[in-house]
Amino acid sequence: MPSIFWSGKLTLPMKVLVEANNILAFLTGSASDVRGMKTRVKQGYEGKFTDHVSQYDELGYHLQEKSARYQLDGLQLADMNVLDVGCGTGALTHVAFENGARSAVCGDISAFMLRLAQQKAFFAKHHQDYCQLDAENLPIKDNAFDSTISGMTFGTLPDQKRALAEMIRVTKPGGLICIGAHGPEHYWEAIDASFRCINKRFILGYRLEWWPRDERYLRVLMESQDLADTQVKRVIWHNDFGSGAAAYDFFAAISASWWYAKFPPHERVKDSKKTRDYFEAKNIRVITDDIVVAYGYKK
Ligand SMILES: C[S@@+](CC[C@H](N)C(=O)[O-])C[C@H]1O[C@@H](n2cnc3c(N)ncnc32)[C@H](O)[C@@H]1O
Repeated sequence: MPSIFWSGKLTLPMKVLVEANNILAFLTGSASDVRGMKTRVKQGYEGKFTDHVSQYDELGYHLQEKSARYQLDGLQLADMNVLDVGCGTGALTHVAFENGARSAVCGDISAFMLRLAQQKAFFAKHHQDYCQLDAENLPIKDNAFDSTISGMTFGTLPDQKRALAEMIRVTKPGGLICIGAHGPEHYWEAIDASFRCINKRFILGYRLEWWPRDERYLRVLMESQDLADTQVKRVIWHNDFGSGAAAYDFFAAISASWWYAKFPPHERVKDSKKTRDYFEAKNIRVITDDIVVAYGYKK
């Protein structure tokens, strides 16, 4: 079962509110419904609750690509066959090809995200395949890839230890395993503001699906596995979107608004508008990016 506590940064009033709700989720059994949580994230990234995610590339791809560049900076991928777990629309795979990868498989739980990746002209020029998969249970044989990478997906995975073990299993001995995980401050201003606005009636007793992790956690996680030369680093920067409305639009698109799973459709629209107006009124235009990069080599 995932932790019942919230591992990301929040202001104190929101922290108290969220932790109280998470304890309620624990008592009602919702916190242990891992399958339900994963389905909600998947459906969010398939655009089931709002159409925000259809603007993922237009509003957020450049920042995903920036994260991907930090993540793979200085790592050798020349001539490798790479698996990208939670590929989304392909930012990390794109950078892997730029860093010399020979071929890649883009894997994601969302068929919609895979379709967006597939439409990219850049990938048509490369040896590239696509696979719908769950990071915690990869449908891939042992030792299949030279390198397995994952960018900005770990925060949405309830069992990160299992996901890492799966990445190692499908990588050849000597191969690189590299994770770009959501750090505890990732998007915290936007998450905090969204909690202030959200209609609490529809999330009461549900543990929200978000498990960012700090460097210490990632270091312990990597060291619990049979890896050589493990390294962990953290990169933080702040994005100014110019207006609260623009910051909200970015956040809604990139996070796919999966927390609307329990809302009736007309309430989602109402809630989204109220939240966007709040971002604008409070001038919440700066959002933090916080990435913890961890890598090592399979023995
Ligand atoms: C924030 S996006 C990051 C995508 C991409 N790596 C990027 O940097 O743009 C998170 C992605 O993780 C995928 N995802 C969430 N849970 C997953 C799971 N259990 N298995 C595989 N992919 C998952 C989502 O569908 C989404 O495409």
